[in-house]
Amino acid sequence: MLKIAVAGTGYVGLVAGVCFAEVGHQVTCVDIDETKVNLMKSGVSPIYETDLEGLMQKNYSAGRIDYTTDYKSAYKDADAIFIGVGTPEQPDGSANLSYIATVARQIAESVEKDCLVVVKSTVPVGTNDKVEQFIQDFLVNDVKVEVASNPEFLAQGSAVHDTLHAQRIIIGTESKWAEEMLMKIYEPFHLPIVSVNRRSAEMIKYASNDFLALKISYMNDIANLCELVGADIQDVAKGMSFDDRIGSKFLNAGIGFGGSCFPKDTKALEYLARQHGYELKTVKAAIDVNKKQKTMLYKKARQRLITFNGLKVAILGLTFKPGTDDLREAPSLENVPLLLEQGADIFAYDPVGKENFARLYPEGKNGNGSITYVSSIEEALERANVCFIFTEWGEVKAVSPETYKKLMRTPLVYDGRNIYSVHEMQEAGVEYHSIGRKPVVREGLKESKNLELQTVGS
Ligand code: UGA
Repeated sequence: MLKIAVAGTGYVGLVAGVCFAEVGHQVTCVDIDETKVNLMKSGVSPIYETDLEGLMQKNYSAGRIDYTTDYKSAYKDADAIFIGVGTPEQPDGSANLSYIATVARQIAESVEKDCLVVVKSTVPVGTNDKVEQFIQDFLVNDVKVEVASNPEFLAQGSAVHDTLHAQRIIIGTESKWAEEMLMKIYEPFHLPIVSVNRRSAEMIKYASNDFLALKISYMNDIANLCELVGADIQDVAKGMSFDDRIGSKFLNAGIGFGGSCFPKDTKALEYLARQHGYELKTVKAAIDVNKKQKTMLYKKARQRLITFNGLKVAILGLTFKPGTDDLREAPSLENVPLLLEQGADIFAYDPVGKENFARLYPEGKNGNGSITYVSSIEEALERANVCFIFTEWGEVKAVSPETYKKLMRTPLVYDGRNIYSVHEMQEAGVEYHSIGRKPVVREGLKESKNLELQTVGS
């Protein structure tokens, strides 16, 4: 059992802290927000994450985890301090490291015994070196402090499972002592450990995330071409997936990737390359394709409808993916302002994301249009002129094609997640536009080609 402190109680820090406690370590989670600390002490998770609350309560009762704003008491005699604070994107695409710097300084001023500082937050290559230097510069007591890199690979919605059953643990260290300490911390997890130097560990995180982002953008690019040439992206993906060099995961074309990681990490790596005078063309392309992808359906719909003014627009799903209340870089955030500007009366449904969304777009009149949050899919669809599907929640997938036909004023659906088969929508008499597949258009309506997809010179 080791004494571990964790700085930051977001997705990275809190989940790591809870999982360390679960395998038997003694954990103190530090956050500057007193209300959040009290909430966590009472067994309530500040984030929506499967299994997290149960494990928080179990380990708090067992005395293996505590929460505090008093960083000094948490850091002073810790064997290891994990940094899991945010590294938000700055306007130029670089990562903002000010939260990391604040924690590093607090550590330097607090530690009273030898300790390993482990950076879990995603940070540009070379940051760990800087953090170590920074801590040495401000160190108050005569103790040994080393910095190690230990990027995390959890996906929101399955964070606890991804941590306890990770496919690999990456540790980046510059000394035997640091490597052994991390090995000891992770021993009770019984997972494969890849031990490399610090800069390689930092790069593994970006290279992995950006590869996945690239995979998605590649599929979206191919999907757009499929539409132009009459192929079906889902059949294409299926055919590709049998090649185990390609694999079957992350081949789903859709309305673009969102969340707090892929958009930020693609831009950060591209920025890092630029700083070094190198043009990272592949990642740049992934970013460009993704940007266009997010409003692809809106543009198709606008062409078809001419205007949204006075139309009831149903939106199913607001979060960037199912299983989370996180809205960061969600396609809904790109499309809702465009629809409101065009005078749409939006009726939005999301099982968990409504409250966060309503903070940004309060219910009622907004611009030329309005937004209403509804608690059932039926309310959203009732007499609607058009429906956009932005998140593939289970509840949304469970809606039958006939329901759109029955409830909507005009059964016109733009599906950003390809959740229905084209055939079943056709059978149900629903006009249906999705990504990379043949649209189902109503008789009498000419198949509208998306201007965005027009090839050069066409
Ligand atoms: C991602 C990675 O999957 C994690 O491994 C990583 O640890 C995490 O970022 C991070 O850096 O912290 P996350 O952002 O939670 O996790 O979500 P994903 O499930 O990877 O989805 C990201 C986006 O890609 C979503 O918008 C999703 O809709 C989209 N996506 C995913 C597709 O459009 N198509 C796919 O086939 C898969």
